[in-house]
Amino acid sequence: MGKHLIAPSILAADFARLGEEVDAVLQAGADIIHFDVMDNHFVPNLTFGPMVCESLRNYGITAPIDVHLMVKPVDDLIDAFAKAGASYISFHPEASDHIDRSLQLIIDAGCKPGLVLNPATPLNCLDHVMDKLHHILLMSVNPGFGGQSFIPSTIDKIRQVRQRILQSGYDIRIEIDGGVKVDNIREVAEAGADMFVAGSAIFGQPNYQQVITAMRQQLAS
Ligand code: DX5
Ligand code: ZN
Repeated sequence: MGKHLIAPSILAADFARLGEEVDAVLQAGADIIHFDVMDNHFVPNLTFGPMVCESLRNYGITAPIDVHLMVKPVDDLIDAFAKAGASYISFHPEASDHIDRSLQLIIDAGCKPGLVLNPATPLNCLDHVMDKLHHILLMSVNPGFGGQSFIPSTIDKIRQVRQRILQSGYDIRIEIDGGVKVDNIREVAEAGADMFVAGSAIFGQPNYQQVITAMRQQLAS
């Protein structure tokens, strides 16, 4: 497992002040920025695309940008996001006709690839691609919206995925996305996750530093 990384999801930020919001969470101790791309087709909501990612880079954001694609099809957007400054790019297996090809496109574009599993997506889609994965993103809510409650069965799924990673011998991170808060982040970490996405838990509070510090205390204790 790697160092614990906290990844605020800008889905819950004030879009009218996006650059300042991203600066603020990084100042408050965040490690990476989680970037939720929704297309109103694969998921029932619509957000932002590569132009917004590029704007954050032009604004001066240098932290890793973790692009979570909730779009179908996937492949056409990979190069655009790589050129826009994405660091990590993940997608859902249900959204790609050729999972291995999409992962390879991400690698060829110079980004770190991840596969995203919805709460009910079985683990067998990981079987033949472990050697290509930088991270596995386990959804702890159904994708499309921030502010939902953590689905408890995710904890067991994290344990199973950690076990698979150990057996594979590869160095793969486990990222958890949805309903992560100060009061459950420790349990999520103990199950084997090492990247934590949090939208409403961070941006929904007036003091970002207080929340991120409280999360780190939970992770350290
Ligand atoms: C949901 C997104 C999440 C979302 C998490 O589809 O992938 O990244 O922003 O938001 P919270 O932390 O509020 O559940
Ligand atoms: Zn996400």
